[in-house]
Amino acid sequence: MGDEGESSPWKSTTGKASQKKTYQPAGFEPRRKTGLEEVNPRVREIQPPKGDMLLRRAEEIRAELQQGVKKPYKEVIDISQDDFHSAGMKPFSFVRQVIAACLHPELLHSGKLPADVCQRAQRLLKECDGDSVGSYSDSCGIPHVQRTVAEFITRRDGGLPSFPKDIFISSGSQRALMVVLRLLAQGEGMSQTGVLTPVPTCYTFPMVLTEVGAVMVPYQLCEEQGWALQVDELRRVLQASRGHCDPRVLYVINPGNPTGHVQSRKSIEDVIRLAAEERLFLLANEVYQDTVHGEGVEFVSYKRVLFEMGPQYSDTVQLASFNSISNGIGEGGLRAGYVELLNIDPAVALFAEMLLCTDICAPVTGQIALAIMADPPWPGDPSYGQYAEEVQASQETLIRNVRRVEEVLSALPGVSCQPAMGGVNVFPRLYLPAGAVEQAKEAGVEADQLYCKRLLEEVGLCVGPGCESGQREGIHHMRLHVKVPAEVMEEALGRLRTFHLRFMSEFS
Ligand SMILES: Cc1ncc(COP(=O)(O)O)c(C=O)c1O
Repeated sequence: MGDEGESSPWKSTTGKASQKKTYQPAGFEPRRKTGLEEVNPRVREIQPPKGDMLLRRAEEIRAELQQGVKKPYKEVIDISQDDFHSAGMKPFSFVRQVIAACLHPELLHSGKLPADVCQRAQRLLKECDGDSVGSYSDSCGIPHVQRTVAEFITRRDGGLPSFPKDIFISSGSQRALMVVLRLLAQGEGMSQTGVLTPVPTCYTFPMVLTEVGAVMVPYQLCEEQGWALQVDELRRVLQASRGHCDPRVLYVINPGNPTGHVQSRKSIEDVIRLAAEERLFLLANEVYQDTVHGEGVEFVSYKRVLFEMGPQYSDTVQLASFNSISNGIGEGGLRAGYVELLNIDPAVALFAEMLLCTDICAPVTGQIALAIMADPPWPGDPSYGQYAEEVQASQETLIRNVRRVEEVLSALPGVSCQPAMGGVNVFPRLYLPAGAVEQAKEAGVEADQLYCKRLLEEVGLCVGPGCESGQREGIHHMRLHVKVPAEVMEEALGRLRTFHLRFMSEFS
């Protein structure tokens, strides 16, 4: 498990590194390969996600199964990542039909597509240079898409206006997050930008912080209170971090990933008050806003709360709020998202635009998907019925799976699970036997890594080890992605139950 290779600290997440043959003319002295010591030191500091080895092993097991190696299962089930389609969820037809027509406009005249699909595709194609999705767009996005997103935000926030100039389209929320962090990261030592970061968190975030040169200032979410954010904890880490770095940025994920917690309006107000008092730049990752499933629980945006708190806050607190198609409509591979920047100096916003410009632009097909997410079919449109049905079915599957996971896990010894209210993950705690913890220590891994590795090897189920998302020392978790077809969830839960009982009795 521990072997990371010699020259490369870690391989690609999917393990699909290409192996190109290079042509060398006779007599040509190849330049010595760039040594690791010549790589940007910040990049060298990036720690690979702790679940990466599991993903590589899952790929290997898949290959072994294909070669006919006998295992107690026929295929690997991977519920370690927020990837709706790889787990078997189906795309929404309207999204794919419009994109298909944009990619291949001959389809517009085939008579095979509903009228509103054709109208939408024609409208979107008109917004693309040369009427083609193959052309570049402005680096902040197609202006029509910026306008559509601004209208969507305005509707979402009960009429509170959003302006296209504040909307920056990117190739996913994580890219936009990186751009904003690049703008904010500066200094060295005590003056280095510190970013208050929830723990547990999305495992890519610490990598981004290292890459941009900011310091992670972790704040613990309270598991006993359903993973709630506690302002006292924010104050505590803020004080403790002063003298080590300059804590200027507060990052929140609401609804939470992987915790599934959804902040109340009061909790958001408390965070905004703290941001105002301490002059913190607020980064609100709101990519799970459409996946709230707790009974009576509602998503309220940071922007809406900020503006409803009055000008003392709405004129001063700097807020970047992120969203994307990855969770909104499950089209993560098409890569598009946006950030809305509020109370930002226009000169600073210009730098955000310049940084986005280094990508040239977000994929245009992704931007089209984003425009559809922001402006789906409406009642009366020919595609409305099917679209509404598909969205509802997908939401019902999510709700059903969350309840089933909680039901099955709460009946297992050595597991506890805080009820999730939103998002697409469940993050149960594992009370692992001392013998397992000891064995993991000897192997130089975390105990939940050992558990997840054996879960994969023995029953072919891949889940995320809690240590990858961050957790208190000596405490263990696993991360289960639950937006998968119901039958996949059932199969996964059956395998998990069988393995867990065996594992616990082995060490008891
Ligand atoms: C916390 C968090 N934010 C954002 C994303 C999605 O990133 P992107 O919008 O770049 O696809 C994920 C992954 O699903 C995530 O876990």
